[in-house]
Amino acid sequence: MKNKTILSSVLAATMMLATFTGCGSNNQDAFDTQVTDIQSSEENVVANESTEMPGFDADAVIGVTLPWLGTQNWVEAKEMFAEELAKEGYKPLVEAADQTVTLQQQQIKSMIEAGAKAIVIGPVDSAQLADVIDEAKASGIYIIGYDRLLESTAGVDALVQYGSIETGKLQAEALVQGLKEKKGNSPYNIELFGGGHADPNSPNFFNGAMEVLQPLVDDGTIVIESGQTDFIQCATADWNNAKAQARMEELLSTYYTDKEIDGVLCPNDGIARACITACENAGKETPVVSGLDAENDSVQWIWQGRQYSTIAKPTDKLVKRTVEVINSLRDGKGLPDTDVKVENGVKEVPVYELTPVVVTKENEKEVFANDPLRMELLQD
Ligand code: BGC
Repeated sequence: MKNKTILSSVLAATMMLATFTGCGSNNQDAFDTQVTDIQSSEENVVANESTEMPGFDADAVIGVTLPWLGTQNWVEAKEMFAEELAKEGYKPLVEAADQTVTLQQQQIKSMIEAGAKAIVIGPVDSAQLADVIDEAKASGIYIIGYDRLLESTAGVDALVQYGSIETGKLQAEALVQGLKEKKGNSPYNIELFGGGHADPNSPNFFNGAMEVLQPLVDDGTIVIESGQTDFIQCATADWNNAKAQARMEELLSTYYTDKEIDGVLCPNDGIARACITACENAGKETPVVSGLDAENDSVQWIWQGRQYSTIAKPTDKLVKRTVEVINSLRDGKGLPDTDVKVENGVKEVPVYELTPVVVTKENEKEVFANDPLRMELLQD
């Protein structure tokens, strides 16, 4: 890949900037523009000398299957894929699988039968899609993972996502910053929550966060009263908010009857609000809580000081990047160049990785400056 060094430097510099400044949308925009400029230039397209990655018609059927519509990001993705793909002249088939593996397998089969040229998959449980992905591959269909990695299959061509380890690190950094700001001197009592077991993002978010938190547990700055520090113990089946709330209630009544809970590491906004609600119902002072997705309710809760932070991973940018990858394949140019690769158990998958951004009350207006719907929520 020709511009490996240049692209690496852009990525590294931009990620450092994002991390150190807790930056807003301007830096994100600058990042996207730089990466798009580099990646879309003719000479940076992976050589596609042969018919190895043949193009397809401009009005082709493009399938999209998303895992569920239980969090705002997937609802946005469903609408935006339908719109962006139609705008390009494709025939979009956009579905959501209601957390049901068999339904998602059927959806992919129907897309194969409908003659799809590319299928975008946000898997419910990627480990269980290998067979149907192989079937799609045998029909010459391009397979792109969206937001979540497609594991254990050689059939996946690429993944488009916000860095998942980086997301976890940012969540933990925001939590620690909030604890210092809101709770004064350590030690801080915190508890840990993870996402759904079948989602490959969940252990990445958790492990990324633990890179930041473990040294602070080791030196006594942070105390986890329950001792539950393993991903499996902390995971939330199916990303189900009610299950997270029940676990938080259990933790409070078992370990916190005579002490305060200062913070909770939460993997997304739904689970953050569930944990905050459990603490409020138990009569506790609101702990410092991290989140993810910049969901409308959490954008408001952060403004009101009820949730400390979230991570913005704007859906429009992710959908647009995915459509750019599809366009490159359509035009017979193969996959746009990228340096980032991730091992899925069978192959190294090229990843188009965008940079997530921490949001707290302090930078909310800056981050959402170009997002009128979220800006409207920031009312006193
Ligand atoms: C996504 C998050 C989302 C979660 C639950 C994850 O894979 O990255 O944005 O909150 O799934 O839907």
